Amino acid sequence: MVRKAGAAKRAANHARSTSGARVRVRVLCLSGPNLQLLGTREPEIYGRDTLDDVHARLAARGEELATEVIARQSNHEGQLCDWIGEARGAFDGMLLNAAAYTHTSLALFDAIKAVGLPCVEVHISNPEAREAYRHTSMIAPACIAKVSGFGTDSYVLALEGLVRWLAKRSAR
Ligand code: DQA
Repeated sequence: MVRKAGAAKRAANHARSTSGARVRVRVLCLSGPNLQLLGTREPEIYGRDTLDDVHARLAARGEELATEVIARQSNHEGQLCDWIGEARGAFDGMLLNAAAYTHTSLALFDAIKAVGLPCVEVHISNPEAREAYRHTSMIAPACIAKVSGFGTDSYVLALEGLVRWLAKRSAR
């Protein structure tokens, strides 16, 4: 038990490169449309943190988990698909707050499936507790998990969950 926990912890911090050398875990965090407005956008729903604040918190928590987090935002579905498409081989996993595209985008579902990287769906609010048109997620079936409703903490919780998931996979 102790030995397994130790192995999982080591694996949490490191992945293996093709040469067998230990390297840091790399996570791509993508945010979709209108999330550049965080901080001023409907603060009663999304809070007062800016997206830069969120990215700084991810970088700091990533540092503690020996994980490099590269964070990007776009209002454009095709740009998000491009970034996901380029992620294979460059990242171990992804966090995706697809914002409104969550509810509409077959293209993002296909992109996640195409690269085959573990992806965690992230939401600041809890879409299932909001308007009916937010209750369907097109991307959920392509994701390993979803974290929603914890405000901007959802991003950090999703990072922690993804790192643990990756550790368990490498301990297998
Ligand atoms: C959101 C929820 C979506 O329904 C909405 O379109 C967003 C933000 C969230 O983080 O709570 O833009 O993804």
